[in-house]
Amino acid sequence: FETGAITEAFGEFGSGKTQIGHVLTVNQLKRNPEAMTVYIDTESTFRPERIIQLAEGAGMDSKEILKRIIVAKAYNSDHQMLLTEKVEDLIKKDGKNVKLVVIDSLTAHFRAEFIGRGTLADRQQKLNRHLHTLMRLAETNNLCVYVTNQVMAKPDTFFGDPTQAIGGHIVAHASTYRIYLRKGKKGSRVAKLIDSPSMPEAEAAFIVETGGLKDI
Ligand code: GTP
Ligand code: MG
Repeated sequence: FETGAITEAFGEFGSGKTQIGHVLTVNQLKRNPEAMTVYIDTESTFRPERIIQLAEGAGMDSKEILKRIIVAKAYNSDHQMLLTEKVEDLIKKDGKNVKLVVIDSLTAHFRAEFIGRGTLADRQQKLNRHLHTLMRLAETNNLCVYVTNQVMAKPDTFFGDPTQAIGGHIVAHASTYRIYLRKGKKGSRVAKLIDSPSMPEAEAAFIVETGGLKDI
C-alpha cells in the first residue's frame, strides 16, 4: 500500500474489504509510531474490538493503537465528502500526522442516493469530485488512501466473472492500485492486483484470522 496513491479493493460481500481496512490501519500504526489513521465509516462496520484483536495479534498495545485512530461516521455522500475535505484541516490546523485515510465504503452512499439511469451522470460527476479530493489529499500530504467498493451483477456476461465494480470508469481511473477480492476454497480469500502503475497482475490467497491475515 503506497503513500501518494489511492488503493481500491472491490469485491462481493464478505470478500475481505473491511478486514483489510482494519489490518492496514493496525499495521500502519505499528510501522509508524508517530502516525494517525482517519477511518471514514459509511456502513457502521468499523469495529474497535476487532482493532484490539489485530493490535494484540501484531504485538501492540491495543489502547495506544485505538487512540491513534480518528473514526468519523459519514451519514450521506455530502457528509462523506465534507469529512474528506476536513482531513486537510486535521493535518494543517491541528497538526495531526495523518498517514492513512480509509473510506469504507467509497460508493455505498452514492449508490443508494442516485437511483435510476437518469441520475447516473450526476452521481459520476460527484464521485469524480470526491476522488479528486482524495487524490489531492494523498499527493499533497504523502499519505495512503484505501477505499472499498462493492460489485454489482453484470447481467449480460456469459463468460468470465459476472460482477463489476460500482462507479465504473470514474473509480477505475482514479484508483492508482485496484485489488479484486473474491472468496476462495475452504474459507480462504483471493486478492488479485488488477491495476498498478509498476507491478504485474498477480494473485495472493489468505485467510482472515483473529490475529490478522494469514498468507497461504
Ligand atoms: P461487505 O462490507 O459486506 O461488502 O463485505 P467485506 O468485503 O467488507 O467483508 P469483511 O471484510 O467484513 O469480512 C470478510 C470475512 O472476514 C468474513 O466473511 C469473515 O470470514 C472474516 N471475519 C470478519 N470479522 C472477523 C473476525 O472478527 N475474526 C475473524 N477471525 N474473521 C473475521
Ligand atoms: Mg465491509
